[in-house]
Amino acid sequence: MAALEPIPVFTQLSDLYGNLGTTIDHAAKWSNLAEEFQKRFGKKPAYIARAPGRVNLIGEHIDYCLFGVLPAAIERDILIACAPKTHADPGYVVADNLQDKYTKQAFKPSPKRNNSVSSISSIDDEDVHAEEWHLEINTTELRWESYVKAGYYGVLNNYFTPSKRGDSDGAYPIPVDLLVTGTVPAGSGLSSSAAMVVASTLAFLAVNGKLDANIAKDGSNKISKGDLVKLAVANEKRVGVNSGGMDQAASVICTPSSALYISFFPSLFASPVPLPSGAVFVCANSMVVSDKALGAKKGYNLRVVETLVGARILARQLGLPLSEGEKITLREVAGRLVGEVADQEMSIEKLSEVLERMDMEVDGLKPVGRDDGEELGVTMEEMIRMSELSEEEFHEIYLSWVTVEATHFQLYKRAKHVFSEALRVLKFRQVCLDAASSPPETVMQTLGDLMNESQTSCRDLYECSCPELDELTRLAREAGAVASRLTGAGWGGCTVSLVPEGQIAAFIQKVKDTYPPYRALEGEKLNEVIFATKPSSGACVYKFGE
Ligand code: GLA
Repeated sequence: MAALEPIPVFTQLSDLYGNLGTTIDHAAKWSNLAEEFQKRFGKKPAYIARAPGRVNLIGEHIDYCLFGVLPAAIERDILIACAPKTHADPGYVVADNLQDKYTKQAFKPSPKRNNSVSSISSIDDEDVHAEEWHLEINTTELRWESYVKAGYYGVLNNYFTPSKRGDSDGAYPIPVDLLVTGTVPAGSGLSSSAAMVVASTLAFLAVNGKLDANIAKDGSNKISKGDLVKLAVANEKRVGVNSGGMDQAASVICTPSSALYISFFPSLFASPVPLPSGAVFVCANSMVVSDKALGAKKGYNLRVVETLVGARILARQLGLPLSEGEKITLREVAGRLVGEVADQEMSIEKLSEVLERMDMEVDGLKPVGRDDGEELGVTMEEMIRMSELSEEEFHEIYLSWVTVEATHFQLYKRAKHVFSEALRVLKFRQVCLDAASSPPETVMQTLGDLMNESQTSCRDLYECSCPELDELTRLAREAGAVASRLTGAGWGGCTVSLVPEGQIAAFIQKVKDTYPPYRALEGEKLNEVIFATKPSSGACVYKFGE
């Protein structure tokens, strides 16, 4: 299974480019990065780590509820060239960026004297106690190097731990020079942050000789793609977002010409889903920058809390067993309802049936005794009462690890979106798998209907769209897309449109002419904001010869 494969390490450029499986010519970008590295640091890089962005075709805001999603890696990526630094303290890093607006940074981790220091509230206790390196990460403002540091943090604390320090060999991280470049636009919903964190994690693993060392937790002698996903997910929490694992899994595990069905329960599972021929996905940037990390307390993290609290209340209403202090997810509620056992996950058919049922059970989350309640949601007091927990217990379980800001919480609408979206993913996946046995127009139309329903649900129930995304999806449909929806966290960023292959050029031209923010752009700038994309391969490392 895909998550168990090792991270590809290439030593031949022809193998590397062949693996990328894209139409873009990557060679110029890779050699430019290597030359710039040589100019700036006076030596050749030892490695280049690559991690792609992703476009989510369907399954929005359900990964952290542990339901399956369907993204594909895109051709745009982040590259990090790196090499050991000479004459510097252990662990010292100089991080530079090919884009001038991201200025050069230097930082050094410090060993922790005790285990009580953690500036990040979202890290589990267990992680905190296991840590012993500290690296200051500023979560209050957007800083490019935070993502580099986030990747480094996990490598430090997972691969340079006390137990590994028995002997002096490899006990301390080496000092590193690194240079970053990228084509995934920041804040665009194409997962630039996960691509940065994955590339950074990989670069630090590679340069410290940890990629193929005999240290993987499962006893295998290589770090698997699944290991890298887990590490990158935990690392990204350092930047202050409690994201699910979709972006990191897509960036690491995707393969060319397929989307990837990724499920998270009972553990990470990924399998390629071939896309029907003739279906092309076009990304278009709304030009509203959406930063997950900065908007987290009223947006992303608030949604995470709303779905978790909704799950508990539903579990209580359905009489399901809950262990003390448990933070049950909506996926687990669905499973427990039909007696699913931990190591025997229910079939996709069964899951679809349960989701249909949950779509009705979810009515139990509507506020009681108020006509306007469905729109307004419930207050903190009402929510605590519905959870059947004391105020103290409620805070401990749901609010002690995250900061959220809201006067009302939308438990019903959020859960309604999650169950219906999870079902749409399963249907989308099945239509793709069965595509060969249906007429192509029917396949396109069915996929398109599911994507359009997803957009409506994101807009009305999950409230993660914005006026610009609504307008752009509408214009895309008018320009010939079978479907158009926001992709990624939303509140700005990109849309993804399903367009028949023969109509791509005309479609792109029409959207360029009609979406007002595009009118001021031309040439390369315009091509940057709207482009067709082909599924690309996941993260890899190129190792330079001696
Ligand atoms: C962001 C997160 C993902 C996922 C999407 C919404 O991209 O990083 O984990 O939750 O939002 O689907």
